[in-house]
Amino acid sequence: MNASERPGGALGPVAVIIPTYNERDNIELIVSRVRTSVPDADILIVDDNSPDGTGDIADKLAANDQSVHVLHRQGKSGLGVAYIAGFRWALEHDYGVLVEMDADGSHDPADLPAMLAALPSADLVIGSRYVPGGTVVNWPKSREFLSRGANLYVKLMLGIGVRDATGGYRAYRADTLRAIALDQVDSQGYCFQIDLTLRTVEQRLKVAEVPITFTERARGASKMSRSIVLEALWRVTQWGLSGRGRRARRR
Ligand code: GDD
Ligand code: MN
Repeated sequence: MNASERPGGALGPVAVIIPTYNERDNIELIVSRVRTSVPDADILIVDDNSPDGTGDIADKLAANDQSVHVLHRQGKSGLGVAYIAGFRWALEHDYGVLVEMDADGSHDPADLPAMLAALPSADLVIGSRYVPGGTVVNWPKSREFLSRGANLYVKLMLGIGVRDATGGYRAYRADTLRAIALDQVDSQGYCFQIDLTLRTVEQRLKVAEVPITFTERARGASKMSRSIVLEALWRVTQWGLSGRGRRARRR
């Protein structure tokens, strides 16, 4: 297939990277939904040796479908660390577009074509809950408060004009990730999303937000924890006090 016929268009082949930790009841369905929505994209599952056997299911999916790949890691070391390993693999394999997607169905693969369509005129596209047309379905009030609070804190501390800086449904150009010093990223948990948003802005690259509907998972459990929240709070505070986001905007 000609690169320009691929879903990423002239940007090159698309890899959808799906990190998993105990997603046994979700992994098959999300892979088949991605295959339906973006048939030309490849899928990379990054499993942290899930005790529930997600990695074995992923291997079976890969054995039956040559566009599905699996990266096995030794143990749970956080979402950020898993994504960096996945990005490295996809960059080494010459993908032109790297997509981040949760395994639990919260990110609807049907939203992906619109996100990819926005990438030719941006460097990073965030599937956004907090732009007009974006919504969250079935989140407890406490979780929505946490997410909105995090985004407000990011805005106050870093001054970057991104409404959903914590969102985990994204499409990066490979060149964007090459421009970011990935080896210097030490965010382990979900603040990885904020970290990479900040780094993209610091490189003066363009972030576009495309509205999505985020639906809380029906099966399995969230891995959000107190230590993940504390890491984000601590790091955003540090970045803010050192003037990082604002300095990037003034340049
Ligand atoms: N490999 C690996 N290692 N995968 C992980 C890890 C880890 O340490 N932690 C979480 N995951 C995977 C989950 O299995 C799931 O596929 C995805 O990452 C998201 O995890 P959830 O636990 O479902 O996240 P959430 O629904 O609470 O949070 C979502 O929203 C946040 C923003 O509000 C995610 O999209 C976050 O990325 C996002 O920051
Ligand atoms: Mn989730």
